[in-house]
Amino acid sequence: MITINEKERTFHLHNDRVSYLLYVMDSGQLGHLYFGKPLQPEGSYLHMVEKSHRPMTTYITEGDLYTSYEHLRQEYPCYGTSDYRYPALEVRGNDGSTLCKLEYQRYELLQGKKTLEGLPATYVEDDSEAETLEIYLRDPLRKLTVVMSYTIFRDCSAIARSVRFANEGEESLFLNRAMSLSVDFPDADYESVQLSGAWARERSVKVRTLELGLTAVSSMRGHSSHQHNPFLALKRKHTTEHSGDAYGFSLVYSGNFLAQAEVDNYQVLRVMLGINPFGFCWKLEPGSTFTTPEAVMVYSDEGLNGMSRQFHTLYRSRLARGYWRERERPVLINNWEATEFDYVEEDLIRFAQKARECGIELFVLDDGWFGSRNNDRSGLGDWKANPAKLPNGIEGLSRRIEELGMKFGLWFEPEMVNRDSDLFRAHPDYILQTPGRSVSHGRNQFVLDFSRPEVVDEIYRQLHTLLTHARISYIKWDMNRSISECYSTVWPTDQQGEIFHRHILGVYDLHERLLQAFPTLLIESCSSGGGRFDPGMLYYAPQGWLSDNSDAAERLKIQYGTSLVYPVSSMGAHVSACPNSQVGRHTPLETRGNVAMTGAFGYELDLNRLSPEEIETVKQQVAFYKQNRQLLARGDFYRLLSPFEGNFAAWETAEPDGSRALVTVTRLLSEVNGPYRRLPLRGLIPDRRYHIRSRYLSYDAYGDELMQFGLMLEDQSSGQMIDGSGDTCQDFRSLIYEVVGR
Ligand code: DGJ
Repeated sequence: MITINEKERTFHLHNDRVSYLLYVMDSGQLGHLYFGKPLQPEGSYLHMVEKSHRPMTTYITEGDLYTSYEHLRQEYPCYGTSDYRYPALEVRGNDGSTLCKLEYQRYELLQGKKTLEGLPATYVEDDSEAETLEIYLRDPLRKLTVVMSYTIFRDCSAIARSVRFANEGEESLFLNRAMSLSVDFPDADYESVQLSGAWARERSVKVRTLELGLTAVSSMRGHSSHQHNPFLALKRKHTTEHSGDAYGFSLVYSGNFLAQAEVDNYQVLRVMLGINPFGFCWKLEPGSTFTTPEAVMVYSDEGLNGMSRQFHTLYRSRLARGYWRERERPVLINNWEATEFDYVEEDLIRFAQKARECGIELFVLDDGWFGSRNNDRSGLGDWKANPAKLPNGIEGLSRRIEELGMKFGLWFEPEMVNRDSDLFRAHPDYILQTPGRSVSHGRNQFVLDFSRPEVVDEIYRQLHTLLTHARISYIKWDMNRSISECYSTVWPTDQQGEIFHRHILGVYDLHERLLQAFPTLLIESCSSGGGRFDPGMLYYAPQGWLSDNSDAAERLKIQYGTSLVYPVSSMGAHVSACPNSQVGRHTPLETRGNVAMTGAFGYELDLNRLSPEEIETVKQQVAFYKQNRQLLARGDFYRLLSPFEGNFAAWETAEPDGSRALVTVTRLLSEVNGPYRRLPLRGLIPDRRYHIRSRYLSYDAYGDELMQFGLMLEDQSSGQMIDGSGDTCQDFRSLIYEVVGR
């Protein structure tokens, strides 16, 4: 998978889906040659280097009017010599200079992949799954060693990158900017794709045509954020969901990030991804090391869907991990939207009994069970049951739930504290705050300083006690505000630029310790819905709550956008009550179920309030999901019709061997007497005969017909129902089509 031409000093990472080529320049710096569709492994590629004399630039060597870093495609560029674009690295020494010259030293090749200490990262289970190239660079003046690490996976087009810095000198160095990835593309004729939004409308697909200058998305909120996801894709203008070049860049990180594309005046495109340099400054003491988060880059010539499938497979099977990675996820019911803070134990038991009757497997008790928590103004930080609501404690309640035949799950918000809490009264210094300044609140709460190990220890102790004594199979790990006034009262002045990152390392550490202590615990991440839905969290929590917006029509967009990077198995998706509490909309129960089933499925309403007919529907949904959850979670996912572009949303999940598929089609607004429609499917076997079944349809067809002519959608649009049911003429109607190989 890695071919090295010692004479030409080129390194070629390749498999049958991708090639990535870099080389050592005459000056000793690391240069970039190519990223994309596979090239001949043994080829010679140095002639790809493009340079020519240009006025008004600066050159590296006197007498040479051709070689300027401004025009060379580089692998890990620094600023301050002759490159005037944004750099990947900026390091300051005690002399105040930020110049850095990274010279090639040597390389190491290893089978498999190393772990990144304290950081989430993709991994291998067997060393034959991947090869890793480590290239050692060094700035001799600063005595700084920089190790560029590249892992190529055998069976997918992903390359995982990270960078390790080692200060081998006697003076402290300061990393002001240390990106995880930088790639210089030879042309800029691309559109960028980002996943952006806000609370309750996370991860909308936004496409921009790249222009001269910068295109960027970022977070400065201390978490990856609702606003932008740590991801950027490039596609050609004519790339579709199914064909054409697509490149994806995804950061395995949950804190402040920057994803940036810079087009220079020679149409060279530089893509960068990493910790947001804004406000970041890491003191690299003599003898110490620093490792960047991992960035994963994917290439596909099968359009955006092809790119997504590479991410899905890698993230589902080699980023998510542990007990729940392959296991069928339990169908859950969560009480939040039904009760908010207002409940006592007997209400919960009634709630759970009805859920059990419907076949639901896990009961999740959300916010409000602990300390003095009856609203959002108190209690966070005191992780002990409130006896007024739960006289038998969490131990007693969890036992009763298990006696009903269900598993029990519990909500926490471990990183937060209310002023009105025992924890805050005992340790007011535990929060992130800048001395002499007021501290902003978010939802009346403050952020615990997880850069301090003793603060993490305190929360670990509380959670560990509960998890040891009660029967808790699942936790919903929430995080409901962004960080402000970021400063730690215990770290020295010259390390305050580390706090955002150290805080996230503390969050990871707490996850890791809990999973070590309770390896069968299922964690669902959450952050006021999807404010921290990122690959970093996926390493600890194989599923995450997608959004506080649980309306089925809105969820179509949220799930569609999220699927650009994240597998279906990671998307916590629930059926909630109507009218929907966020948008006030009515959608059919069938549609709410059909949409949520393409996710880690559950309910978020009081089933006791449903009619007997609706309960029957719920029972059928739960049974259908259980029959199909393996396929839905692990099959190949194809986006077919975008809710961002028209009145329909459609997606398909197919068995990787093409033997079976489920196709979900939703029409947003009802249309009268519309056209006939066919939907070309994907991932089937052309000469295999399939049986197609849905609520109203039943016919046989070969795979080639279904992929060319298309699946014949039922006439949902005539405006006159001749069967008298009337139920297809509605807004937000959806159907699941089963396509089963004969
Ligand atoms: C925000 C989450 O997204 C909700 O699902 C719920 O858990 C609330 N927090 C509880 O405070």
